[in-house]
Amino acid sequence: MTFIQSIAELEAKLSEPSEQLISEMASIEGDIIVLGVGGKMGPSLAKLAVHALRRSGARNRVIGVSRFSNEETRRDLEAAGIETISCDLLDDRQLQQLPDAPNIIYMAGNKFGTTGNENFTWAMNAYLPGRVAEKYRNSRIVVFSSGNVYPFSPPGLGGVTESCSPEPKGEYAQSCLGRERVFEYFSKLNNMPMVIFRLNYAIDLRYGVLLEIAKSVLNDRPIRLEMGHANVIWQGDANEMALRCLALCESPPRTINCTGPETMSIRWAAEEMGKRLGKEALFEGTESDTALLSNAGQSFQLFGYPRVSLLQMIDWVAEWVRAGGYTLNKPTHFQERKGKF
Ligand SMILES: NC(=O)c1ccc[n+]([C@@H]2O[C@H](COP(=O)([O-])OP(=O)(O)OC[C@H]3O[C@@H](n4cnc5c(N)ncnc54)[C@H](OP(=O)(O)O)[C@@H]3O)[C@@H](O)[C@H]2O)c1
Repeated sequence: MTFIQSIAELEAKLSEPSEQLISEMASIEGDIIVLGVGGKMGPSLAKLAVHALRRSGARNRVIGVSRFSNEETRRDLEAAGIETISCDLLDDRQLQQLPDAPNIIYMAGNKFGTTGNENFTWAMNAYLPGRVAEKYRNSRIVVFSSGNVYPFSPPGLGGVTESCSPEPKGEYAQSCLGRERVFEYFSKLNNMPMVIFRLNYAIDLRYGVLLEIAKSVLNDRPIRLEMGHANVIWQGDANEMALRCLALCESPPRTINCTGPETMSIRWAAEEMGKRLGKEALFEGTESDTALLSNAGQSFQLFGYPRVSLLQMIDWVAEWVRAGGYTLNKPTHFQERKGKF
């Protein structure tokens, strides 16, 4: 079995384009701007885009925009061939100075720390989209959103599809729906092609639901089971699908759920981690009748199944944690049932 042993190997794996992405990127016209590139997913998405474009022979630029609170992220992106612009998108003067481009991937947002600072989350997630939609009225936009806009559903139903009416719980999820609605408004007003990309939960080895489960198992910490099921997808696959959405943007916006094909039992995942780590998983509470679950069937029909399977992710994460691999201190709080982040 081959494991991922270093951050360099992980980054290379995350930014390895599929043949389909390479051929689709060949027909993308113009530059791609990634707004909010500096987070967990943006750097590998931007690198994936550059690799796919270069392998297709295209010279389109990929421009990453963020505040770059982490200067190292900026250097790393520049070294990988991504042009970077430091910008606080909430500062309208800075926003208006950004270059134009026909293709926008919108990844900026705020989740953690919402409780107690709700006004900021609303400004980021629901006000800023309007400013960005006005600035980029001649562009197509893939809008990262969240499966958190959906109501909880029984695990036996296999998750909710895009036709389910949103029922966001708590102000973070409500503000995510605000982001979607504001983009949708401008899409209709100005005939802007868009995809609303509802994601839950991307993972890599440094963060995510599987990492949190593995760390608990390794450290003999009980895992709460009230949120007894979840969906996960390899970050590389989620980013691939997001880039391929550029070709599917339309007005009014098309909505696409993005996650893995399994309704994953948290208990099962912890036991699988336990087998790999030589530990017994400990639990607290029992599974509720419902969980936050999406059905991403439409995305598999459009793009095919993810290239990295759930058991492959579990193998990789378990080994990463066993070897003491580097992790970001950014928990998902996937167990939260009241929507307070
Ligand atoms: N990861 C997941 O599993 C998941 C699940 C559901 C939805 N999503 C959504 O998908 C998107 C990307 O995910 P992610 O995990 O990469 O999110 P993330 O880690 O929160 O990254 C978003 C980045 O946007 C940048 N940003 C925030 N405010 C900004 C501002 N005012 N001006 C410029 N840049 C700003 C920040 O980088 P700087 O500090 O450098 O500015 C931040 O790191 C997010 O919108 C997230 O809500 C992600």
